[in-house]
Amino acid sequence: MVRKLQHFIEKEIMALDLSKAPRELYDPVAYMMSIGGKRIRPLLCLLSYTLFNERVDKDILLPAVGLEIFHGFTLVHDDVMDQAPVRRGYDTVHRKWNANVAMLSGDVMCIMAYRYLCEAAPRYRDVILHLFGATAAQVCEGQQLDMNYEHRPCIGEEEYLQMIELKTAVLLAAAAKIGAIAGGATAHDTDSMYEFGRCLGMAFQVQDDLLDAYGDSGTFGKAIGGDIVTNKKTFLLVYALKKATGAQRRDLEYWLQHTGATPAEKISGVLSIYNELQVREQAETVIDSYFKQAEAQLCAVQLADARKEALRDFSCQLINRKK
Ligand code: IPE
Ligand code: IPE
Ligand code: MG
Ligand code: MG
Ligand code: MG
Repeated sequence: MVRKLQHFIEKEIMALDLSKAPRELYDPVAYMMSIGGKRIRPLLCLLSYTLFNERVDKDILLPAVGLEIFHGFTLVHDDVMDQAPVRRGYDTVHRKWNANVAMLSGDVMCIMAYRYLCEAAPRYRDVILHLFGATAAQVCEGQQLDMNYEHRPCIGEEEYLQMIELKTAVLLAAAAKIGAIAGGATAHDTDSMYEFGRCLGMAFQVQDDLLDAYGDSGTFGKAIGGDIVTNKKTFLLVYALKKATGAQRRDLEYWLQHTGATPAEKISGVLSIYNELQVREQAETVIDSYFKQAEAQLCAVQLADARKEALRDFSCQLINRKK
């Protein structure tokens, strides 16, 4: 099932008409859509849809691809804001071209995303567009909080969780909910699918924070330690700031404030404090807890268990991912 849906998504992405003028605007869009990515948002949308309806046609496939285009837009802008050099193992758009190109190509992707979401069937198009619009604004709010927090010395766990809910989890939640709405789910099941996506999204972002510090750059496709260098208030840092006392606290604050160190020195200094505080183990506990909450939401969907198998497998793989 997952493979078939993945194939549908890739086919639709390949069919995007991006050989348009001006090249400077559309080449980076084609680049972003072709250098890979896990496609989890459209996949989640389609897996959710197929719980309730087996006939996958254009009026769900195109909105699902719209979600991937929207995600691509957020990444292009996110990489400028995070000064990230590598994405999916390739140069980021602002590095390959420049920041102005990243701004405008990102903008056109956001607009394309809306056009694809408008391809939803008329009977539920308004509901889907309303949800998508509200979600897109929440993603921007989360991204702004993420940037604000870079400059704050300390962030509470609640603030961190609110930030990742906005920047990451609500898009997965909306993807799952859009699939459910289009599939004809009841209001009860539609709400459960939203919560399922949201909990999975929370686990997913904590996992992303973990991989940013402990992953393998070749597999992860991003520069390892980027969050540490930019003082991102990741789960790891928020927890370390809560736990560290005495010399560890002083060391951690030194690394956060000291601007003379090389990136490699800072990464290794901060990582050794994370290791001492067993931050990694704590992150894994939190990931597991959100994963279990997601599973409970899927259980609450009023369908036979066997129907949920593909979605269950997909979420397991997502949580155990290395990239
Ligand atoms: C990266 O998302 C941004 C986050 C919300 C963590 P993905 O990990 O889904 O990125 P791709 O699309 O697979 O590259
Ligand atoms: C990204 O969070 C969330 C969005 C793109 C909206 P990150 O900044 O952690 O994502 P990566 O690690 O660059 O993919
Ligand atoms: Mg970011
Ligand atoms: Mg980033
Ligand atoms: Mg990240």
